[in-house]
Amino acid sequence: MKIIITNNSHSVAEIACDNVVAQLKAKPFSVLGLATGSTPITLYEKLIERHKKGEVHFKEVHTFNLDEYIGLEETHPQSYRFFMDRYLFNHIDIQRDNIHFPEVMSDVLSAAKDYEAILSDVNGIDLQILGIGQNGHIGFNEPYSSLGSRTRVKTLTRNTVEANRRFFDEDEYQPHLAITMGLGTIMDARHVVLLATGESKAPAIRDMVEGALTASCPASVLQMHAKVTVVIDEAAAALLSDRDYFDWAHKEQLRLE
Ligand code: PGA
Repeated sequence: MKIIITNNSHSVAEIACDNVVAQLKAKPFSVLGLATGSTPITLYEKLIERHKKGEVHFKEVHTFNLDEYIGLEETHPQSYRFFMDRYLFNHIDIQRDNIHFPEVMSDVLSAAKDYEAILSDVNGIDLQILGIGQNGHIGFNEPYSSLGSRTRVKTLTRNTVEANRRFFDEDEYQPHLAITMGLGTIMDARHVVLLATGESKAPAIRDMVEGALTASCPASVLQMHAKVTVVIDEAAAALLSDRDYFDWAHKEQLRLE
């Protein structure tokens, strides 16, 4: 794992943005795996800025979102499709047909399998953006998810439902089922860029980076991935005991580049 610890959420987003831009410059027809949640919003804002300046184009890009709530139409303001339109897709030159989400309004069991099939038709994900839950989830792979899992229906933990309640009105229906890419699906991405900011993520970051490989912290599966870039702010890094080494290794890496 490459661990980059930086001052604040803006520099986290900037570094993640540099990774995406470099990927798209090297391969304009890249397949991107995308995440929702509050963390990647600034990254998407920066991508839109770079697009408006003409530095990056999405015409040939395919995107696959990690997950979607079962039972929410794509026009529902809390659906992840709606979120992505609002924060990214409506502002860039992506072709609508190249945007992919799990199909959550039909037969969800076969929809999960179909998602894997479409992913393999485009030869898998080049760069996967991830956030991380306070409980160590990535996508909606909650603790005790199989480390080899593929796209499937998942029941959210009460902790995740609670953490996401802020996005829903008080009397609004909040789903507790979702289709999510599996941990095995995420592990097939050729490069994973995980972002985390704020002290609430510090325990999950510690467990993911320095803890044991275990299904109780699903993100720890990334210890087995050959190319992971973890970009975090000071607050999210606060519980890392080998902090000095990560800073030193990053400086050495920059010298090499
Ligand atoms: P957040 O969610 O970015 O809103 O903290 C991250 C996640 O649950 O994966």
